[in-house]
Amino acid sequence: MTVLVTGGAGYIGGHVVAALRARGDDVVVVDDLSAGDASRIGDTPLERIDLAAPDAPGALGAVMLDHGVDAVIHLAARKQVAESVDRPLWYYSQNIGGLLGVLEAAAHAGVQRIVFSSTAAVYGQSRTPVTEDAATSPANPYGETKLVGEWMLRDQSRTAGLRAISLRYFNVAGAANPRLGDTAESNVVPMVFARLERGEPPLIFGDDYDTADGTCIRDYVHVADVADAHLAALDSLAAERAEPYRVYNLGTGAGSSVRHLVEIMTRLAGSTIEPSVQPRRAGDPAVVVADAGRIARELGWRPRYDLEEILASAWAARADRSTSLP
Ligand SMILES: NC(=O)c1ccc[n+]([C@@H]2O[C@H](COP(=O)([O-])OP(=O)(O)OC[C@H]3O[C@@H](n4cnc5c(N)ncnc54)[C@H](O)[C@@H]3O)[C@@H](O)[C@H]2O)c1
Repeated sequence: MTVLVTGGAGYIGGHVVAALRARGDDVVVVDDLSAGDASRIGDTPLERIDLAAPDAPGALGAVMLDHGVDAVIHLAARKQVAESVDRPLWYYSQNIGGLLGVLEAAAHAGVQRIVFSSTAAVYGQSRTPVTEDAATSPANPYGETKLVGEWMLRDQSRTAGLRAISLRYFNVAGAANPRLGDTAESNVVPMVFARLERGEPPLIFGDDYDTADGTCIRDYVHVADVADAHLAALDSLAAERAEPYRVYNLGTGAGSSVRHLVEIMTRLAGSTIEPSVQPRRAGDPAVVVADAGRIARELGWRPRYDLEEILASAWAARADRSTSLP
């Protein structure tokens, strides 16, 4: 099978590419490298295309035909919540425009299988553990662009023979190897490690939530498990038995408090710095934990790694990179 991975030079994309290649699939990456790093994908073919550009559908369609693409994994997107609040139209043009380009190109090239990176942010403040049938109510433009993306896939699957799966990721962290680690300080794990390395206290936003230790609870899932879920989703689309459009939570079902996360990370970093508690951030729900039953039942996917293993792998990747710096 030949798989086109958009955003393949990114943090999660790099892991998906590695997992596909490890099992023998052919891969072509499309990425504009605006946030990605080509060193993550080694010698995998890379096409530099801005998916939101007006000429993207034509360029992408040509790549699909040239490489004989059978399926697309669409990860490329802008993903920073605060930035999406400041620049909503840009987020719509990037994330919705990017997916539109992918769908137009796929229709042109006859590619009928797509796996889409969605997010738990589509749920907003829903009760948890949250099932896929819970009401969606994103609290910011980032989550809105992902929910609209899901609707685009659903609608296209009703008319155009498309088969698609949206994976709603919870908090992705960790690294399968040092080369693939998360370097973006906008995500909580790299942010906390970066502060510890600089000798600064990790920040905890709010400790007066209605949770056991007062801090927010999130569902952390290892990026290697996330990559495996994409392989399972592709295989399920190829089998052509189930519904043509499906949605799955991609989380572990286990919640961890931010304070507990920071304690483990501080220990791993060999630090004794106490965290600094800041006011709550607007729009942060107290608890976001997946009901991960559907993906286990229907795709046979289960997480292999727990929180300690996730954080240890992230620290190992970070430590390895910093020792190899000039
Ligand atoms: N990291 C998480 O915890 C998390 C959680 C939920 C959902 N997601 C989703 O997973 C996907 C991947 O996230 P990530 O953490 O790997 O992010 P990332 O920023 O590391 O990777 C995104 C990649 O897409 C590329 N890209 C962005 N816009 C593009 C465009 N217009 N044209 C071509 N390439 C473009 C970037 O260069 C980058 O390589 C995103 O869709 C994100 O919304 C991530």
